Amino acid sequence: MPELASRQHVRDICGVVEAALTQGEVSKDDVGAVAVTQGPGLVGSLLVGVSFAKTFAWARGIPVVPVHHLAGHIESLVLAHGELPLPAAVLVVSGGHTSLFLVSQPGAYRLIGRTRDDAAGEAYDKVAKLLGLGYPGGPVIDRLAREGNDRAWDFPTARLTHADRNVPHATSAGLLPPDVARRVDFSFSGLKTAVLRLVRERAGVSVSEKSHADHASALSDQDIVDVCASFQRVVVEVLVDRTFEAARWLGARSVGIAGGVSANSRLRQEAAARGERLGIPVFVPPLALSTDNAAMIGAAGFRRLAAGYTGTRDFNAAASLDL
Ligand code: KG4
Ligand code: ZN
Repeated sequence: MPELASRQHVRDICGVVEAALTQGEVSKDDVGAVAVTQGPGLVGSLLVGVSFAKTFAWARGIPVVPVHHLAGHIESLVLAHGELPLPAAVLVVSGGHTSLFLVSQPGAYRLIGRTRDDAAGEAYDKVAKLLGLGYPGGPVIDRLAREGNDRAWDFPTARLTHADRNVPHATSAGLLPPDVARRVDFSFSGLKTAVLRLVRERAGVSVSEKSHADHASALSDQDIVDVCASFQRVVVEVLVDRTFEAARWLGARSVGIAGGVSANSRLRQEAAARGERLGIPVFVPPLALSTDNAAMIGAAGFRRLAAGYTGTRDFNAAASLDL
C-alpha cells in the first residue's frame, strides 16, 4: 500500500536520522554531504527521502548527492571488502531486481543481463505466499529448505520462450556473443507457476480455475519443506550458472553478489564453491549490508562525491531509473 508506506516514512524519517547520528556518535556539524536514494522504487516513499535530504543539505549548506538504489547494493561490496579486483561481474538480486553488471572501473556499472519477468526475491516472496509462509519469503524459505529434500520436485530452470529469444538484446551488445547474452538473462515466473500448479493439484483445484483462496493447507509440513528446498535449488543454480558463465566470457577477475537475496545461505555456499573451483574470488556483503540499508547509499554517494560530483539540488525522485 504505497500511500501508507509514504505516510510511515514521513512519520519516521526525522527519528531515523537522529538515531543514526546518535549511534554513529556524530553531530549534524560533522556531516559533510547527504546521499539519498533517487530511485527506482515507490515514488511516494522516495519523495519523502529526497525532500528531507534536499532540505537538510540546504539548511546545512552542504552538497546532496542522488544515488541509484542498485549502485548502493553494488557499493555495499566495496564498503565491506574494499575495491574488488576489476573487472568484476556483480549480480544484484533483490525483491525488485535481478541484474548482472560488469564493473570495469570503480563506480562505472554496465548492465549485462536482467530478469525478463519476476525478480528472484519476488519469486521467493510469491512462493512463500503460496505456501502460507508470510512476508518476506526469502529468510523463511532459506530456513525451511535446510530440512527438505531438494530433489523431491523437479521444478523447471527458467527457460526463455521462443518469443523472448527473438527480443534483441541491447544491454550487453558487443560484450558477449549474442547466444551467451541471451542466456545470461533471467526468468523466474515459470518457476513460480510450477509451484502454484503443484499447490493447486494437491488441493484438487484446477490450474485454470480463477481462485484466490489459500490452498497451502493441502500440503503437509514435509511437502512444504521439500518444495522450499527444491525451489531454492533451482533459483540458486540459475543465478550461479549464469553469473559465472558471464564472468568467464567477460574475463572477470572477481564475482560479487549483492541485494537482499545475497543473504541466502545456499546462494552464498554455492557461489563460494563455484568461485573456488574456477579460481575466481567471490564477494558477498555481510548480512547487515545485504538487505536494504542506508550505509550502502552513503557509500555510493561518497563514491560520486569523491569522483567530483558537482550536481545541483535540481533532481527529483524517480519510480524507474537507469543506472
Ligand atoms: O534488497 P532488498 O532488501 O530490497 C529490495 O531492494 O527489493 O531485498 C529484499 C528481498 C526480498 O524479496 C526477500 O525475500 C529477499 O530479499 N531475501 C532473501 C533472503 N533474505 C532476504 N531471499 C532469499 N534468502 C534470504 N535469506
Ligand atoms: Zn534493495
